[in-house]
Amino acid sequence: MSDIKAMLGGLSVEEFLEKYWQKEPLLIRQALPGYQCPITPEELAGLACEEDVESRLIMEQGGATPWQVEHGPFAEERFTNLPATHWTVLVQEINKHVPEFALLQDRFSFLPNWRLDDVMVSYAPEHGTVGPHADNYDVFLIQGAGHRRWQINRQEPSDDDLLPDLPLKIMKNFQVEEEWVLEPGDMLYLPPGVAHYGVALDDCITVSVGYRAPTLGAILSGYIGDALAQFDTDVFYRDPDLKPQDAPGEIALDAREEFRELIRSLPMDDERIDRWFGSYITDVRPGHFVPEPAEELRPKKFKDEFKKHGELWRSEYTRYAHFTDAAGVTRLYVAGEEYEMYGDGPKVAQMLAGQRVFRYKELLPYLDDKDLLELLTDLYNLGALYFPED
Ligand code: SIN
Ligand code: CO
Repeated sequence: MSDIKAMLGGLSVEEFLEKYWQKEPLLIRQALPGYQCPITPEELAGLACEEDVESRLIMEQGGATPWQVEHGPFAEERFTNLPATHWTVLVQEINKHVPEFALLQDRFSFLPNWRLDDVMVSYAPEHGTVGPHADNYDVFLIQGAGHRRWQINRQEPSDDDLLPDLPLKIMKNFQVEEEWVLEPGDMLYLPPGVAHYGVALDDCITVSVGYRAPTLGAILSGYIGDALAQFDTDVFYRDPDLKPQDAPGEIALDAREEFRELIRSLPMDDERIDRWFGSYITDVRPGHFVPEPAEELRPKKFKDEFKKHGELWRSEYTRYAHFTDAAGVTRLYVAGEEYEMYGDGPKVAQMLAGQRVFRYKELLPYLDDKDLLELLTDLYNLGALYFPED
C-alpha cells in the first residue's frame, strides 16, 4: 500500500476526496504508526516563551475567570505556576520553528499546497481542553503523545449557542454524536463546521495540520482593490454634455450607460484573474514577516555556499505556488512576487513549490542556467530559501 493510502486508512486519495474532504469526519487509527512526537511538553513551553512565536494559554479552570486566555510570549515562570489540570498551551505556525513539523506537511502533498495553512501543536495535562467549538477550516488532528478523547457533532453551532462574553468561541449546548479516544499515531480529519470537543485524558500532545480557505469577500475585494489601482479613482464624475430631461427624478439612460461602461471597464480577463490569485494566495499576510539572511549573496557565492551546505530549505515564512497559463508561460509565485519561468524553469518552479528540501546535486543541473541561478539567489536574499544552519 502506498504511504498516502496507509495514512488514509486504506482509502485512495480519490476516495478520501470524494467521500470525506470538506464533507465528513474521518477517524484513522494508526495513520502514522509509531509516530514519535518531535517535541516534548517542556520544549513546547520553551517555544511559547520566545519572541516571534505565536502562542496561547487557555485555562478552563484555575484562572481569574473560567476559560481564561493569555497570549505569549510568556515568562518562563508562567509554566512553573500552573495548576495540575484543566489547561492547554498552544503554539501556532510551529512549522516555522521546528523543521520536523515543516516536513510533516509533506505527508499531505495529496492536497494543494496553497490550501495549507500551518501546523499547530498543543500540550495539555489531564482535563485540558479548548472547549467544544467548530472551526471554519479543515484540520487533521494527529495524536502526538498521550491520549485525547474527541467528541464530535456534525451539526454546525449557531451563534446563539455560544457561551457569552468569552475571548473564545465555546458552545453552550454541545451534544455528543460520536466519540473516540485517540492514541499516538491516530488521526482525526474534520471538515469545516463540525463541532468538536477534545479533552486530554493524560499528558497529551495534539498536532493540528490546518487548511485555510479565503472568504469569497476577501477574494472579491482583494481582486477589485488590485484592479482599481490602475484607475485614477480621485477623478470626479462629470457630465458636460448633460441633456434636458422632463422628469428630474429619473436617472437618464446616458448616465446609466456611462456607469455601466465604467464598471465593465474593470479588467476581468482570465490572465489577470489567475495572476492576481497567484500573488494574493502566496502573499505574506498582514502582521507577518519573512526573516532575511544575515548576508546578501551574489549568484556565484550562493552556488558555492549551496555546495558547501549540501542542502537548501524552503522557508516556512513564505508560500510558493505556480501554474502554466493558456499561452504556455509558467509563472512562479513566491511571497506575492511573480516570476516567469523559461527553459528548465517550469521544472524548477514545480520543484520549488512542491518540495521543502533541495539537495545540491538535485538542483546542480539548473545552476549553470544564469537566469535560474539568479532566481534562486534572489529567493535566498529575500529569505524564501535558506541553508539549514543559517
Ligand atoms: C487542541 O489541540 O487542543 C485544539 C485543536 C482544535 O480543537 O482544533
Ligand atoms: Co478546533
